[in-house]
Amino acid sequence: MHKDKPFSQSCENNKAPILEKLAGVFKQPGTILEIGTGTGQHAVHFASHLPHLTWQPSDHPRNAQLSNSWLQDSGLTNIYPPIALNVLDGDWSSLPAITGAFSANTAHIMAWHEVQAMFRGISGVMPVDGIFCLYGPFSYSGQHTSEGNERFDRSLNAEASHMGIRDMEDIKALGEHSGLALEEDFDMPANNRLLVWRKVG
Ligand SMILES: C[S@@+](CC[C@H](N)C(=O)[O-])C[C@H]1O[C@@H](n2cnc3c(N)ncnc32)[C@H](O)[C@@H]1O
Repeated sequence: MHKDKPFSQSCENNKAPILEKLAGVFKQPGTILEIGTGTGQHAVHFASHLPHLTWQPSDHPRNAQLSNSWLQDSGLTNIYPPIALNVLDGDWSSLPAITGAFSANTAHIMAWHEVQAMFRGISGVMPVDGIFCLYGPFSYSGQHTSEGNERFDRSLNAEASHMGIRDMEDIKALGEHSGLALEEDFDMPANNRLLVWRKVG
């Protein structure tokens, strides 16, 4: 057992409501690529409750090993070792065959051109009808869904000008451009959304 594992309180708070949605969406056996895995808490929770899936964690090379202790301590056999994948210039062809994808709290951290690369990359490696679930805060027609999200957006911008909460109009247009159709936009606790995209033929 690793002591002092990296820990995200928000993962602990949101993993149950996200799992509930993923269970209804990822019904078939398959392999799910996670982009921006972070600590690995999500990977462990979802893989342990969805044993018909194999989870492929990945993260930017600078964070690719962050999830090691959570993944190793889990003892789960349906999680592949984490892969270093920068959505911008990563080698998507080295991934195992995937049937779906998941990413949480990445779209507001990545620069917009990285978000574009994430959609393009996922669409490129997912089969037709594959599902991509994207969790996080989003705005609608430039309007934030809460004062908390507005403050969060300002703090992201102040920290780095390339970061910020993405607008649904932009992200929907990006999906269409990438061959991903938005099927669901679930309201989630704490003013977050779970967006479900299906790859179209
Ligand atoms: C706020 S953290 C979210 C971590 C985790 N998914 C969660 O919900 O707690 C954002 C993650 O995006 C990853 N990330 C940022 N830019 C990336 C890129 N270009 N390619 C892949 N991952 C990236 C970071 O390394 C980090 O793990």
